[in-house]
Amino acid sequence: MLKQKVSRVVLIGAGFVGSSYAFALLNQGIVSELVIIDQNERKAEGDAMDLNHGIPFTTPMRIWAGDYSDCKDADIVVITAGVNQKPGETRLDLIGKNSSIFKQIVASIMESGFNGIFIVATNPVDVLTYVTWKYAGVSPERVIGSGTILDTARLRYMLSDAFQMDAHSIQAYIMGEHGDTELPIWSNTYVGARPMMDYVTENMGITQADLDYYFTNVRDAAYHIIDRKGATYYGIAMGLARLTKAIVRSENSILSVSSLLTGQYGLEDVYIGVPSVINHTGVREILELRLTDDEMSKFHHSAKVLKEAIQSIKL
Ligand code: 2OP
Repeated sequence: MLKQKVSRVVLIGAGFVGSSYAFALLNQGIVSELVIIDQNERKAEGDAMDLNHGIPFTTPMRIWAGDYSDCKDADIVVITAGVNQKPGETRLDLIGKNSSIFKQIVASIMESGFNGIFIVATNPVDVLTYVTWKYAGVSPERVIGSGTILDTARLRYMLSDAFQMDAHSIQAYIMGEHGDTELPIWSNTYVGARPMMDYVTENMGITQADLDYYFTNVRDAAYHIIDRKGATYYGIAMGLARLTKAIVRSENSILSVSSLLTGQYGLEDVYIGVPSVINHTGVREILELRLTDDEMSKFHHSAKVLKEAIQSIKL
């Protein structure tokens, strides 16, 4: 008899980001089981009912509102729970509230006997990914933060729009904190196989000032969206679905996520956004790019800000 291959995600937090992620998972047919947990049990139940009614339109999937015991057989637990930024707040402003919520969440997950991969999306994501790793006491490749996956997507989108090129044909990375100290890695940005700087100078007359303008829009995108609609969720939800797919299908895809540095770029003991190879084991390896001196010093500054934020928490 054929053995049924079950892939289970447990989602913790059915707010805007969590619910949008659940919808993306269902639409893309990435996993066979989705369990939703939320402090507000009725919200989790309502989401499960609503999503289940869409199943006849897509790939079969089991979806239910569950509890922490469901983590035992999960391949991935995705945490989106916590408070989000209000207009004018930075991601780092959320540190106190969200790190104490995480202590209890991670303890409950581990008590179930969970043996899979953690994906953390709550802000400040790099700090909370570190906190999750510490509280869970598991090997670091099993704990991944969404990091700069969304910022990288925003940059690729903005460049694709400016160059009128398919975003898939633009290779570019945002590294560092998912927040105010992040940086674009222009030295490793390509249009097809062509270094972007050659291409834009020769073909489009785009200057460094234009590139700085695109980057500023990437870095401040969340503020612009929060000002307009109070929260961001579709973009990050699709980034989380992409990361889930890379793990479940063991794709060995390179995604810019928050990974623990253990000497790469001359840094250690910090979770930060870096291009990482993702498969069923989690972070298979970190891809070390050759940075310019200026990029390296900005990256170190970003890591310093994150380390200081980590030190402000009593772990
Ligand atoms: C974002 O960048 C707020 O971190 C969230 O959209």
